[in-house]
Amino acid sequence: MELVTGSTTLSRHHITTFQHSILEWFDHHGRKDLPWQQTPTSYRVWVSEIMLQQTQVSVVKNYYPNFMQHFPDITTLANAQQDEVLSLWSGLGYYSRARNLHKTAQIVRDECLGELPATLGELQALPGIGRSTAGAILSLAQQQPAAILDGNVKRVLARCFAIAGWPGKSSVLTQLWSLSEQLTSTVRPRDYNQAMMDLGAALCSRSKPDCRPCPLHRHCIACSQEQQHLYPGKKATKKLPHRHIKMLLIRDAAGRILLEKRPQTGIWAGLWSLPEATAERQAHTACHQLTGAQPQRIHTLEQRRHTFSHFHLHIQPVLMHLTKPAHRVMDSERLVWYKLDQLNSLGIAAPVMRLLKEIGEKT
Ligand code: ADE
Repeated sequence: MELVTGSTTLSRHHITTFQHSILEWFDHHGRKDLPWQQTPTSYRVWVSEIMLQQTQVSVVKNYYPNFMQHFPDITTLANAQQDEVLSLWSGLGYYSRARNLHKTAQIVRDECLGELPATLGELQALPGIGRSTAGAILSLAQQQPAAILDGNVKRVLARCFAIAGWPGKSSVLTQLWSLSEQLTSTVRPRDYNQAMMDLGAALCSRSKPDCRPCPLHRHCIACSQEQQHLYPGKKATKKLPHRHIKMLLIRDAAGRILLEKRPQTGIWAGLWSLPEATAERQAHTACHQLTGAQPQRIHTLEQRRHTFSHFHLHIQPVLMHLTKPAHRVMDSERLVWYKLDQLNSLGIAAPVMRLLKEIGEKT
């Protein structure tokens, strides 16, 4: 077992025994009945890979069939309204993925005759498709020998070859890509890549790797040194800043809640949310500006917290009751009065949806 530093060239023997071990394991234990593995076209694999980028398989399994039923092909997706796409994405989070999916579908419709391209370079030029996603589309859908490097594969390779350092660092990433490129099977690229992902999820987990049944344990430097926990290296943690906002649940006498569409940039871009009060615009003022009326009763609800990758958001919900049914809002592109039982037809950020459901259940 050799220790790896810099970019290593693996011997042919090492590569074939590694591939053989993992493919044999895959034949017995790999996942073969995931929804996107049935009829694995480029379109179906692409949608699944985008969903899986920041979301667990167990969650994606519940969203994917419904999404595909609404958008069975890329042209249907391209022709849909953004609101419809975001609405079916509601709950999966990281909405830029859905916006990029929609944008890419439109590019493919307009510039690629409605077919996703079949080369790494062309795929990577599309919004939301990075090197690993491009490799996954080509290998899983087209049986092309393209390498992948998602979180699971990074962990397996970092441990097997004792690649120290945080994989977000470019020198570490370069080593991992080099290993992945060398090891990807040219004979069974689909099964090999799926096997690496499945192994990472099933046995080579982050905190409790189960090394005894692992087909790679004879190859694994971290395992032989009992240092699995050191790989992959962690990013130096930084403290996230805190932001505080008041979210206004303005309710009219007919029980409807005022929703406001978020701008196309920033958090929850393009999604429907609740109007907000700020230090400069107090809740009363905001309510009057938005509806032309003053609330009769105001209720402050318990504060809650939502953490984004770059900050903690503390949400203070404020329930405000109007005495009359509201008139039509002036700016109907940006503001709507919504009945709580209609919410599923809109793209709404998950924490806002939770809040609305809570209010709906209480009344
Ligand atoms: N994560 C990313 N792609 C995946 C896939 N095809 N199967 C399981 N997990 C995945």
